[in-house]
Amino acid sequence: MDYSQKMLRDDALKGKTIVITGGGSGLGKAMTSYFMELGAEVAITSRNLEKLENTAKELEAATGGVCLPLQCDVREYEQVEAMLAATVEKFGKVDILLNNAAGNFISPTERLSANAFDTIIDIVLKGSKNCTLAFGKHWIDNKEQNKTILNIVTTYAWTGSAYVVPSATAKAGVLAMTRSLAVEWAKYGIRSNAIAPGPFPTKGAWDRLLPGDLKEKFDLAKKVPLKRVGDHQELANLAAYLVSDFAAYVNGEVITIDGGEWLKGAGQFNLLEAVPEEMWDMLESMIRSKKNNS
Ligand code: HXC
Ligand code: NAP
Repeated sequence: MDYSQKMLRDDALKGKTIVITGGGSGLGKAMTSYFMELGAEVAITSRNLEKLENTAKELEAATGGVCLPLQCDVREYEQVEAMLAATVEKFGKVDILLNNAAGNFISPTERLSANAFDTIIDIVLKGSKNCTLAFGKHWIDNKEQNKTILNIVTTYAWTGSAYVVPSATAKAGVLAMTRSLAVEWAKYGIRSNAIAPGPFPTKGAWDRLLPGDLKEKFDLAKKVPLKRVGDHQELANLAAYLVSDFAAYVNGEVITIDGGEWLKGAGQFNLLEAVPEEMWDMLESMIRSKKNNS
């Protein structure tokens, strides 16, 4: 099985202009690269302009596409408005907003300063809100139709998770915003969807969530029923589909791509995976014998 294959046909995103926040690294970069291969014009944004410029150069050389690097801290509404204006100035329009930028680190919550908690809420929730509001107002004011917002959340947006409480709190808010606007803005021709990825190795996430030898101690692949982490192309395939016109009737959905990871933690008897095959004969006869005694 080759799950790193590319899914959509050539030119599936031709004519689309896409802004990817946090597009200079990690999953944002992987999605950007595939969007460009599919013919989209893209703008990538984050705080670090030098990183964005290097990524844009690399991806333009690799795909022959156009990539506009724009510095923008999503926490600042004025910067988001300027980023939107620069994108429209370059491409004439924008069709798709991908809210991918995020911040996160692990910590017992009681050790966090108020500012540390705020920092994550500001990047993830306020940042996604700033971009969504600016782009939504722009599309609605200009009566533009067939627009799409895609938000990257996490599976703990609905389960919650210890030790990443600011991130869980913020991602839950982003998910609520996704579903709310899917209904409210559908009348303006704007779709809103989300992807909830499981473990996809990236430097940005994994150095902060599994520092030092935690990577070896907590092998995240072991938590996944499919016994592996995700491949970036698998996520890019899903994102490309959701922002494309092939998904024109998909609205208000959150699609989990985690190999079954979160459900494994949720099912009450899932821990019975640990029972070896040969023990099941014995267990079954023990259970059956209860029927005769009761
Ligand atoms: C406790 C911390 C901390 C830590 C920072 N702070 N790191 N507190 N533990 N490890 C505190 C600081 O002391 C400060 O509070 C406040 O947080 C802000 O810190 P700054 O360094 O000034 O913030 P800033 O420069 O804005 O950087 C933001 C950041 C950083 C979030 C702290 O890590 C970052 O830039 N991250 C971006 C990339 C990222 O995180 N990627 C991962 C996404 S993964 P005080 O009170 O001292 O001022 C993800 C989900 C993955 O989201 C799910 C995987 C399965
Ligand atoms: P990453 O490489 O660290 O990506 C985060 C990006 O956000 C960076 O490019 C960063 O760029 C940008 N960013 C951070 N703060 C910003 C700000 N204030 N303004 C603008 N941009 C900012 O991590 P990743 O793993 O690719 O994560 C991408 C997305 O996937 C995130 O939404 C994350 O929550 C989600 N996710 C990842 C995993 C995983 O296993 N990797 C699992 C579930 C969900 P700068 O530093 O240049 O600003």
